[in-house]
Amino acid sequence: MSQRLKTGLALTLLCGTFTVHAADRLPNVVIMATGGTIAGAGATSTTTVGYTAAKIGVERLIEAVPELKKVANVSGEQVFQIASENMNNDYWLKLAKRVNEVLKQPDVDGIVITHGTDTIEETAYFLNLVVKSKKPVVIVGAMRPATAISADGPINLYNAVAIAGSKAAIGQGVLVALNDEIQGARDVTKTNTMTTNTFRSPELGSLGYIVSGQAQFYRASTRKHTSETEFDVSKLDSLPAVNIAFGAANANTLAIDAFAAAGDVGIVYAGTGNGSLSTPVRARLTELRQQGIQITRSSRISNGPTIRNGENNDDKTDFTVSDTLSPQKARILLMLALTKTKDSKEIQRMFYTY
Ligand code: DGL
Repeated sequence: MSQRLKTGLALTLLCGTFTVHAADRLPNVVIMATGGTIAGAGATSTTTVGYTAAKIGVERLIEAVPELKKVANVSGEQVFQIASENMNNDYWLKLAKRVNEVLKQPDVDGIVITHGTDTIEETAYFLNLVVKSKKPVVIVGAMRPATAISADGPINLYNAVAIAGSKAAIGQGVLVALNDEIQGARDVTKTNTMTTNTFRSPELGSLGYIVSGQAQFYRASTRKHTSETEFDVSKLDSLPAVNIAFGAANANTLAIDAFAAAGDVGIVYAGTGNGSLSTPVRARLTELRQQGIQITRSSRISNGPTIRNGENNDDKTDFTVSDTLSPQKARILLMLALTKTKDSKEIQRMFYTY
C-alpha cells in the first residue's frame, strides 16, 4: 500500500468509524496545487479584488477544509505556485506529465487541480486532450481570496474533491467545478471578471451540478477527449509556436507579420463575425499559408461555430476553421495538431473531432 494511501487511511480512521473494504473505502484523491486566487491572500477580509494570488500552499488549503476527510482520503502536492495569467506551455507540459504519472498509480481514484481562474479554461482543454486516463480530473478555482468573508474557495475545493472521487465523473473528460456547477473542459469559459458564477458553457450548457457533495450529471461531451485522443505529450519538451491575432475595425497585419518573423508555425486569427478577415489581413495570411504556416480562422464572438467557406474561401486559401472553439482553445488544439501533422485536411478533421 502506497504511503499516500496509508496517510489518507490513517486520517480517515482518526476521524470516524470506517470499514476498510475496497467497495466501501473512501476514494483516494490527490490535490495538485498550481496557485491562483483560491490560494490568494488579501489585506482585509473584505478585499475581494486587488489581493495577491498564489500565496497559500496546498497543505493549508487542505487544512482549511476539514470536511474533505468525509468524502475522500486526500493528499496534496504543490506542482507550482503562480497567478494563472502566467500559465504557459512549459507549465502545461510539467503539469500534464505529472497528472498522467499520478493517474497511473492504482490507488489513486481521481485528481483535483487548484488553479487561477484567468486561464483555467485553457489548462482544462489542454489536459482534456492529453490526459491518458478515464479517471476524473477536476480543475477548481475561486473568485474570492482565501482571506475574504464568504470566500468561495473552500466549498469549491470540497465540491471538486467530491466530484473527483465519484464514479459518475469517470470517463466524463476533464471537468471545471466552481459555484456548484460541473462544466466540461471543451465548452467552459470565464464570462465575468469578478462574480462567483463566472464560469459558464454558453448556449451548449454545463454537464451537471454538485449537490451536498453528490455529483449529478445531466449531459456528456460529444467530442473525443482524454484516453480517446491521438495526442501524447509524454516525450515532448516543448510545443509548436502558435499565437493569436485579434480582429477589429481598422485591422492591419502588424501582429501576424511579427508572429511570422518570430518563426511561428501556426496562427489563430480571432476574426469578426464568422471569423471574417479584412482584405489586407486575408492577403497576408494567404501568403503566410503558402510559406507553410498553418492558419486557423476563429471568431472573437463567444458563441456559434466558425464555418468554412463563408466570406473566406478556405478551400482556396487552405485555412482551417475552429468550429465552436474559442481562439484561446483553438490555439491549444492547433499546437497539439502540429505535433502530429502539417496536413490542413487532417488538422481540420481534428477541429471537428475534439
Ligand atoms: N491572477 C488571477 C489568476 O491567478 C486571479 C483570478 C483567480 O484565480 O480567480 O487566475
